[in-house]
Amino acid sequence: MQAGRNIPIDVGRLWERHEQCAALGATPKGGVNRSALSVDDITLHARLAREASGRGFEVLLDDYGNTFFRKPGIEPGLAPVMSGSHSDTQPTGGRFDGIFGVLAAFEALEAIADAGVSHRRPLEAVIWNNEEGSRFRPSAMGSSVYVGNDSLEEMLGSVDDQGCTMAQAVAQLREAIPGAAHRELGAPVHAFVEAHIEQGPVLEREGIPIGVVTGIQGTRKFEVEVLGEEAHAGTTPRANRRDAFVAAVAVVGRLHEIFHDAADEVRFTIGEFIVKPGAMAVVPSRVWFCIDFRHPDNDVLASLGDRVAEAARQGAGRCEVRVSEPTRAGSTIFGDEVPDAIVRAAGDRGHAWRRIYSGAGHDARYMAMHCPTGMVFIPCEKGISHNEAENATASDLAAGAQVLAASLVSLADR
Ligand code: GLV
Ligand code: MN
Ligand code: MN
Repeated sequence: MQAGRNIPIDVGRLWERHEQCAALGATPKGGVNRSALSVDDITLHARLAREASGRGFEVLLDDYGNTFFRKPGIEPGLAPVMSGSHSDTQPTGGRFDGIFGVLAAFEALEAIADAGVSHRRPLEAVIWNNEEGSRFRPSAMGSSVYVGNDSLEEMLGSVDDQGCTMAQAVAQLREAIPGAAHRELGAPVHAFVEAHIEQGPVLEREGIPIGVVTGIQGTRKFEVEVLGEEAHAGTTPRANRRDAFVAAVAVVGRLHEIFHDAADEVRFTIGEFIVKPGAMAVVPSRVWFCIDFRHPDNDVLASLGDRVAEAARQGAGRCEVRVSEPTRAGSTIFGDEVPDAIVRAAGDRGHAWRRIYSGAGHDARYMAMHCPTGMVFIPCEKGISHNEAENATASDLAAGAQVLAASLVSLADR
């Protein structure tokens, strides 16, 4: 049993890699804008692939553009223990959301190799393609397609604002990593562990470096299209207008009433709102907006979410309204196996830890449909995330990577 063996993390190497990645898509405000499979994101993949090859790790790519770095185990035929996260960011994203989980997994593989610690099962670090969903919709496609929750063909057909399909973007990634071997989608995984910044204030407030995640709250995402008719802004009386903006505002007002809860547990966000044709002197003919709704209780997800379409129809008046729901995922509770391994790893290394529930979504949500899964959270400054000011300390990154490495080895010996 090697779970207690020391696996020293190279704090400088881990921090330096974060700095190098933060330069890919760096924003003037100190954040990162690195959309999925953009030039910067593909550069990041190719760089890590070169470093992986240099360490003797195998590089693999699946049909959806998920990238895997594999360190063989004593019994190479066994299903691997996998860890990783995403490298894409929100348009005004930070330097740690997602990429920490990728780099912590990569550092764990290197540290395990440096320490000469053997393990039965192969270990893999993964970069899931397109977790944020800001260039290609919906979010978390890579892990969702991997586990068979979304269709490969449909998701490869997702189109960005410039008309580029995901299939074309994945082809560009493949060209940048010519030596990558093919990885089967859905291939068995023994266990999955994702490291991530908390994206909330709890760990920092309590001075605890390790969060052992118990689960992820459920989410429903809607797209609403309101269709009216273009008309002259100077001449058209109100009675003759089918103003898509006015109708959309009425829909939003109704939705805010429905989703208001005194306990402040409901998370309801309209983060994108597009008005067309977008000209000052033209009555708008089309509005598109999306709704991000989250709650830990599946009954509340069902009862409130099911009211969106009706509220949209009632609010839209004389305009036509279309509602679709590209994402629906119930709340996830992780089983005991992986969280218990994380608890033991944190305890063995003398790190304070607490259990914590995730308000944010993660690829671990979909991996939990495929294999025993868990997550390690570390604190981030003031809980700020999806914001260019996102920050975390090198020592917390290292503590997370250390607990991750020990958890991976103990799971890989089972
Ligand atoms: C992930 O980025 C989320 O939106 O929760
Ligand atoms: Mn993330
Ligand atoms: Mn995010």
